[in-house]
Amino acid sequence: MPVLRALSKAARQALLAPGCGCPPLAVAVRSISFSPRQVTNDASFHSVSFSETDHPKVLITGGLGQLGVGLAKLLRKRFGNNNVILSDIRKPPSHVFHSGPFIYSDILDYKNLREIVVNNRITWLVHYSALLSAVGEANVSLARAVNITGLHNILDIAAEHGLRLFVPSTIGAFGPTSPRNPTPDLCVQRPRTIYGVSKVHAELMGEYYHHRYGLDFRCLRYPGIISADSQPDYAVAIFHDAIKTGKFECNLKPDTRLPMMYIDDCLRATLDVMEAPAEQLTMRTYNINAMSFSPEELVAEVQKPLPDLQVTYNIDPVRQAIADSWPMNFDDNNARKDWGWKHDYDLPELVTTMLNFLGADSRIARAN
Ligand SMILES: NC(=O)c1ccc[n+]([C@@H]2O[C@H](COP(=O)([O-])OP(=O)(O)OC[C@H]3O[C@@H](n4cnc5c(N)ncnc54)[C@H](O)[C@@H]3O)[C@@H](O)[C@H]2O)c1
Repeated sequence: MPVLRALSKAARQALLAPGCGCPPLAVAVRSISFSPRQVTNDASFHSVSFSETDHPKVLITGGLGQLGVGLAKLLRKRFGNNNVILSDIRKPPSHVFHSGPFIYSDILDYKNLREIVVNNRITWLVHYSALLSAVGEANVSLARAVNITGLHNILDIAAEHGLRLFVPSTIGAFGPTSPRNPTPDLCVQRPRTIYGVSKVHAELMGEYYHHRYGLDFRCLRYPGIISADSQPDYAVAIFHDAIKTGKFECNLKPDTRLPMMYIDDCLRATLDVMEAPAEQLTMRTYNINAMSFSPEELVAEVQKPLPDLQVTYNIDPVRQAIADSWPMNFDDNNARKDWGWKHDYDLPELVTTMLNFLGADSRIARAN
């Protein structure tokens, strides 16, 4: 075994130890004298302990998407404005630019990432950059670069600098051969989109780095996230259309059931799992869920305050095929048991909140 011979004794022991994740292996791995990119990995040198700063110093990648700006707001409230840095490759709108630290960061540029982490003494990394399912299918090679090569940069930076790393996964990490109702944390994962494949890769690589290098990797599989400013998913579009025109054309079949969550629950879950003491985490990748509904159930709920809403169905076969391969319901019992996950928003609260947020008062008044 020439490769093994070249390794240190501790590394050999780690590689030869049976199983993964057992305490003796974790101890051996932490003492390995090289890191993924062959940079000396002395966590006590690189990482800034919490007692030194009182608060984590957070970097959010891909922070200008649906979730990053809201997460920055939540984390800044908790840890202080200057302790949370938003980054992206896009130009921030002025309200985001003026609300707290923002910097350019391309996750494909490893040196740029390292410079940001070092210069800002980052201790937590929330990795939001990704090409999501529809965009990824439209540009597979870019999705592969951003979601897979970019993730490798993030993992190496996090391991080398002793960061706590959060990477979200998704219902899209499951596929048609997964159990769908409910989908447990551990089961067959054979997704058929590049997005799903890259997220399974992220889950496995993060867990591997945890066992191999002691990386503090934490991952939640988010369901579909609903917020007022998200991309035109049916479960968001219905609220905008109900208010603007009173008519809604749905591109999924009426009985297509998917797990969903209001954005406030998703962001709070992210903060909660990042703050959870490591000894409470029996796993490193958890499902989280809040509700599960179909278009016809959502329509019925929206029609309670807006009975004049007219709904038609015009099925998009590509979106329907993707939705049909996703979980219908998520089993998140492990998250609830291990670190106390609990959602606040069920379907009725979601509908009331979205309609209020989008200013439905006038239409509701008219309907009454
Ligand atoms: N929104 C959801 O419903 C949902 C559900 C499950 C999981 N997630 C995950 O949560 C994370 C955030 O989702 P989102 O909805 O905010 O995504 P989004 O598509 O809205 O935003 C992604 C961001 O990544 C940035 N990006 C692209 N290439 C980059 C690069 N090379 N370097 C740096 N940034 C780059 C984009 O500019 C964009 O602002 C993603 O990882 C996604 O997979 C989201």
